[in-house]
Amino acid sequence: MDYIKLAELDETGYVVLDAYDQAADPAEWEEIEFVDWKSSGETRFAPLASAYGELECNGFWHHNPPKTDKDGVWVESNIAKAPVLKARAEEPGSNIGRCRVIELLPNTYVDSIWNLHLDDNNRLNPEGTGWIVRGFFNLTDNPDSYMILREDKDDPSTETRIPLPAGAQVIIDTQRLWHAVWHNGDEPRYCLITSWESGPQLQAYLQSKHAVSRVENAPLDEAVIAEAQAEVARRRAAREAQSGAMADVMSEA
Ligand SMILES: [Fe+2]
Repeated sequence: MDYIKLAELDETGYVVLDAYDQAADPAEWEEIEFVDWKSSGETRFAPLASAYGELECNGFWHHNPPKTDKDGVWVESNIAKAPVLKARAEEPGSNIGRCRVIELLPNTYVDSIWNLHLDDNNRLNPEGTGWIVRGFFNLTDNPDSYMILREDKDDPSTETRIPLPAGAQVIIDTQRLWHAVWHNGDEPRYCLITSWESGPQLQAYLQSKHAVSRVENAPLDEAVIAEAQAEVARRRAAREAQSGAMADVMSEA
């Protein structure tokens, strides 16, 4: 048996939806409560739905009892201040797992390549049910920042760079695609991230928002990409040397 997946995400692992016009919406992300939570890069998170409704961001499988990334429980104190964000997460009508706003401090292209990672959205998810994918709704206006996606983390030719102006909406199979955000700017970037279960509701939502599975790659100089590959290789080597040195110290202790 396999999981229920959406044909729309088959080709590239992501879709870009119609942009959402949030000009008339209050900046709810400025009111909600954030907690320190290190993801990829310098980040904090404000949970809107967590495993059991607490103000925390841990993976649902770390709780007792553990659960898969579905049936998130609304965090009352935060959704009271963010009814529009809650409604946007609920609009597809599919099961919601984790739902939170991420705050990301400015970084570099090299940092984003260093931060590329896969999510573990489907841990404990029973086969035969819907595959968990994630929505990224950009809240702040960051037209010079990009969602960096790679099918192969070490192969820049598999990279897609999706610009993130206010209202940009991208849905990504983040357990398939390596991903991180390159945030150019002086201020933090805010984004609503929601785990949804794949199924007919999410599919209808994608279709209603004219999902496209391939967008033009934002331009970036080949030399910049090559230098980032080299720098990330240097960082990896340094990290491995350091962990080797630690192991030596441990073995001598
Ligand atoms: Fe992630």
